[in-house]
Amino acid sequence: MMGIARCGDAAIDREKVMDGMPKRLEREEITRQVRQQLESYSAAGVTWLPHATVAPFQLADNEERMGKTRTSPLATAGSLFAEAETGPAAREKRLIELRQLQERVARCTRCPELAATRTQTVFGTGPMDIDICFVGEAPGADEDRRGEPFVGVAGQLLTRIITAMGMRREDIYICNILKCRPPGNRQPKPDECRNCREYLDQQLELLRPKVICALGATAAQNLLGTSMSIGRLRGKFYEYRGIPLICTYHPASLLPSRSPEKKKDVWEDMKLLLNRLGKPVPGTGGNGSSS
Ligand code: URA
Repeated sequence: MMGIARCGDAAIDREKVMDGMPKRLEREEITRQVRQQLESYSAAGVTWLPHATVAPFQLADNEERMGKTRTSPLATAGSLFAEAETGPAAREKRLIELRQLQERVARCTRCPELAATRTQTVFGTGPMDIDICFVGEAPGADEDRRGEPFVGVAGQLLTRIITAMGMRREDIYICNILKCRPPGNRQPKPDECRNCREYLDQQLELLRPKVICALGATAAQNLLGTSMSIGRLRGKFYEYRGIPLICTYHPASLLPSRSPEKKKDVWEDMKLLLNRLGKPVPGTGGNGSSS
């Protein structure tokens, strides 16, 4: 303890003593003070000293000068964007990786039943760096035939929801938990969702949406790792690996033969989503919070 206090004293002395001193004398003065310091440690019975460590602020300063961005491991833990590179070249690289991922998915045989019965895989559509990525359950018959997500009746309703939000479908990314159609449109099995998860995670990492919107219970429960009902999950924000996530009812459940009365809940969720993105809510002249 004494040694540490003396060390601080020495630093102050040095500043006082060396003010305006020529370089050679400055070095001699430092040497003298260090020797004196070590002798006083020795006299106090100190027989060893720890190696000097680089102070955290010095490390930060060095990395800044080297053009590196420091990210706190805590702030980015589990985030999809932990080591986000930016710039046109990095974007081009992500685009190439997305295409490579799509090709990998097209050859996938992890779920033998799905691989044997699909017409083609349905990877997803839309640009990169989007505001919103909608994630549905799995392709149906129309999607399996066309190779595009949400192109059937439920898809048409989703397009209308997007238009009502003041956006264009082509500005949004749309994909599913499963990239293959389950035969007869049955619900995806847990092991099928697990098999496909790596693809979805990589897809989201490359796309970098500002918000994810899970459509329906399968998407919401899979992404959030819960068995809670969609009715209880909807209406608030969660986080999926650093990305804000909101859940709402699946468009298919809003069709006239099912629960069209839930459309108003979906609209409430879409208003929350628009607010989160800082976008105006069409038809309210503002952020829609009063309607
Ligand atoms: N339902 C989904 O969940 N996804 C589609 O792509 C189509 C219908």
